[in-house]
This record gives sequence, structure tokens and C-alpha cells, in this order.
Amino acid sequence: MKIRVGILTSGGDCPGLNATIRGVAKALYQRMGTDVEIIGISNGYDGLIHGDWRLMQPHEFSGILTVGGTILGTKRTPFKLMRVIGDDDVDKVDAMKRNYKEMKLDCLLCLGGNGTHKTANLLSEEGLNIIGLPKTIDNDIYGTDVTFGFHSAVDIATEAIDRIHTTAGSHSRCMIVELMGNKAGWLTLYAGIAGGADIILIPELPYTIENVCAAIEKRAEQGKHFSILAVAEGIYDAEEARMKRKERMARRAEQGYTTATNRIAKQIEEMTGFEARVCVPGHMQRGGSPSPYDRVLATQFGTYAAKMVEDQVYGVTVAMQNNHVVANRLSDVAGKSRLVPEGHGMLEVARRMGLCMG
Ligand code: F6P
Repeated sequence: MKIRVGILTSGGDCPGLNATIRGVAKALYQRMGTDVEIIGISNGYDGLIHGDWRLMQPHEFSGILTVGGTILGTKRTPFKLMRVIGDDDVDKVDAMKRNYKEMKLDCLLCLGGNGTHKTANLLSEEGLNIIGLPKTIDNDIYGTDVTFGFHSAVDIATEAIDRIHTTAGSHSRCMIVELMGNKAGWLTLYAGIAGGADIILIPELPYTIENVCAAIEKRAEQGKHFSILAVAEGIYDAEEARMKRKERMARRAEQGYTTATNRIAKQIEEMTGFEARVCVPGHMQRGGSPSPYDRVLATQFGTYAAKMVEDQVYGVTVAMQNNHVVANRLSDVAGKSRLVPEGHGMLEVARRMGLCMG
């Protein structure tokens, strides 16, 4: 009897999605040969809702290890709207269950971040056989030490900081590199340390502009007439930390800012006299080929998921814990996230190096 495995990628793309898909497929074909069929679902849950899928051929999984993005396409389909019936009158949960049946799937693999895992858990609770795989450059999925995509993004962000150093030095400027991460500061923390930033600001640690400027002035007193700031897009200052998100956004809009970086640049110029510039690598951090680290991780995760399929272990998501690939219950992971905790070893490293953390 043939086994039918569905696979989809949901949420923001990142390097390593194709490498993971390849790991799953090659390991499945290796173990089951022609007894397995893989169904590729287009554009994440949107494709599952609208029945946009196709039977994939083994050759489609070749040559994709190094390719960025996702061969399946992806889309953000917010979890909070899954049970909301919109203008199109489509009951999304019902449609996903119906299409799962129509495709005659034995199980469905959902590659994605926190939102994807919430919907994966919902589908599992609705009785579908689901296996999750943790992707995101934010590295903020609960229960895993690392997600694929993260280290590739650290490499890219680090290169951005490396390249900024020369202009900062030549012009005696403060250069602010705004990195992705709305709630989690992992990417900024790792790239900041790897790139030798002088000031690292992450959403988990609200900053004060006085501390930031004091760090810049202290460097100047030591004869260092430039500073590099690695700043997560989601940071806020100590005053904003006391506000609700809506209130914070309204205040920012009033001031003419979306993220805090341009405001910080202006304040640095006013308070220290240094010229300041902002550099936003943006989606470049999610683009291109996965790093060797991520190719290995994606292959570890993908082949482990294939084993879960073979053993018919469902309602789980693949994770790395203490260098071992394990499976966590989806219900234990969904709705949680993993932020940089106070006391984390990497924060200690930064502080011991004398970096300003806000
Ligand atoms: O969740 C990954 C992420 O890259 C965040 O770090 C970033 O804030 C967001 O996606 C950007 O999303 P979009 O691609 O929808 O602009």
C-alpha cells in the first residue's frame, strides 16, 4: 500500500526550506521507494485551503540543497483568522480537512515558524496526522535550541556589520545596522557579537538613549571615533516598554518613525555630535543559499521527519536539544515562543566584552 505524504511551507521564507524538503523526500524514497508518494502543497496553508497541490516526482527534489526560498511557495495565513469566515465565505479549517482527505494523505508535514506551528497544532487537534519542522531566521521556536535559517541569517547580518565597519571608521560615524527580529533578539545578538558591534539592542532588553550615548562617548574618550550599533527592528526604549503595543505604535507614527533606529540616529547626532547613519539589510537576511551549517541542520531535521512518517509518529514537531534531534509534542510548542532570557550565556559574553546592551 502506498503512503501519501503532504508537505507545505508557510510563513516567511528562509534559507534551508528546500534543503529540508530534500532531506525529507530523499530519506522517504530511500526507505520506501515507490511505496511513497509526495504531494507538494503550494503557498502554505493557503494552498491547503484552496486545494492547490500536485503529485511531485523524485527528480524535483534534486539540485535544491543550495537553493534559497521554497520550491513550494509560501504565504502568511494568520492563525488568528483560521476560524474566522471572511467575505469569501470559506470555512478554512473545514476546507483544509476536506482537501487533506481528497489528497488521500496519510500525514502532512508543515514547515514554518510560530504561526505555522499554531495552525499545525489546530489541524492535529482536528484529527489530522501532522509533523512540524521549525524554520525561522528569528530562532524563536519554543523547545528547540536552533531553527533552520537562523545561522544563514547570522552569516548575512554579520557580513553587513563587517562591511559597515569601514565606513564607520573612515567617516568617524555611528552606524546603526537594523536587523530582523520583532520580538526575539537572537539574530541581532549573535550577528552583533560575530560582527564586533559596540552596542547591541534587542527587544528583550529595553534601552535608554542615555546609556547608548554614554557608551559612544566613552569610546570616543578612548580614542575610538566611531561606533557600530546592531539593533533589532523590534526594540523599544524603557518608556515605550511601559506602553501597550498599540499605544507605542501610535506614538511612533506621530513621531514619524516605524522602527526605533532612525529616532536613535537623530538622538545620537543631537546628544553626542557624532554623525549617524542607518543601514537596513532587510529581506536580504532571508535570501539566498543556506549556509553549510543550515544545510546540515536541514538534512538532520528532514531525515528525522521522514523517520517519524515511517514510524507513524504524529502530532509532533522536530527539534534540536543539546545536540540531539528530538520530537516535541505540537501541543507543548504551539502558542509559545523562545526569547533571549535574562542570564543567557550569550548575554553574559556580550557584557563581559564590555558591550553596551542598552
Ligand atoms: O519571522 C521572520 C521575519 O523575517 C521577521 O524577523 C520579520 O520581522 C518578518 O519576518 C518580516 O516579514 P515579511 O516578510 O512579511 O515582511
